[in-house]
Amino acid sequence: MYNEKVEELLNEVKNIFLSVKDKTELESLKQEYLSKNGKITQINSLIKEVPNEEKREFGMKVNEVKTYFNEEYERLNSEFELKAINEKLESERIDITLPGKKVKRGSKHPMSRIQEEFEDIFISMGYTIYDGPEIESDENCFQKLNLPKGHPARDAQDTFYLKDEYEKFLIRSQTSTAQVRAMEENKEKGPLRIVCPGKVYRRDEDATHSHQFMQIEGLVIDENVSMADLKGTLEVFCKKILGEKTQVRFRPSFFPFTEPSVEVDVTCFKCGGKGCSLCKQTGWIEVLGAGMVHPNVLEMSGYDSKKYQGFAFGTGMDRFAMFKYGIPDIRTIYGNDIRFLNQFDRKDNE
Ligand code: PHE
Repeated sequence: MYNEKVEELLNEVKNIFLSVKDKTELESLKQEYLSKNGKITQINSLIKEVPNEEKREFGMKVNEVKTYFNEEYERLNSEFELKAINEKLESERIDITLPGKKVKRGSKHPMSRIQEEFEDIFISMGYTIYDGPEIESDENCFQKLNLPKGHPARDAQDTFYLKDEYEKFLIRSQTSTAQVRAMEENKEKGPLRIVCPGKVYRRDEDATHSHQFMQIEGLVIDENVSMADLKGTLEVFCKKILGEKTQVRFRPSFFPFTEPSVEVDVTCFKCGGKGCSLCKQTGWIEVLGAGMVHPNVLEMSGYDSKKYQGFAFGTGMDRFAMFKYGIPDIRTIYGNDIRFLNQFDRKDNE
């Protein structure tokens, strides 16, 4: 009787696993058969009643049921687990062939670009970069450049003076101030070959003038330096930055700190010298001021003007950026409009 009961249960167990659909059903089966009041547990507890001669067989059969149940349970359980993992993997699938999200990258400001171009050219000619401060003394900005107080040429470079230190400190109106610093710092009072790029400030504001703009100053001091060296240097420089076809012409001019002084024109790079709106039909564009360093300037900074000569030049880097990149209004350079600045990304790939 007892053995038949176990036999029945075994058959039942063999059938129930056939229809299990998921883990929940599997777990409720475990509950139904193996919990405290489960069918297998209950039948197991009958062992007390089973007559002795049947006990052995009964025990073996009950074990058979248990083993069968457990094996089936484990088999289905891992099957369901695997299925769940696969479904998860399938639903979370990443399409690695999709194009990635583009990371937004900044790009160099047009003025940084042009400054690096200037610097590279002069470094290749043996110059070093010299940096001077933007807040300067009146002495360095004017007096030691042969522009004493009241000199009329100061008018062309009216700038911003620091309120409480009126007539003492200002924001520099020209990078020529760095000439003075470099000469004074050079204790041996020997040869110098420097370029000084940087910001300068004047009371200007229109499409081609901004109250803040960028200049680069060049200074060479040595024995036997002549106007020919100045001409050669600037000719090489202009061709390198504006193209080999560029022609250069020198016109006499005046700067208090150079004598003789010149202004340097280049053939218009838009029309090649034929005449257009950019060069106002003249074929030429003025780009640099230059000259031989005035002996007074050398002497004021401790140089022996009998032994040393020098040449100096200065130019606005903004103008070059405007010409090279086709920027019609200087004020856009300093306006921080991202739509303007973004356009220079392309230059990274050139
Ligand atoms: N500092 C002059 C200017 O700002 C340019 C210049 C520099 C001229 C050096 C001669 C020599 O106009």
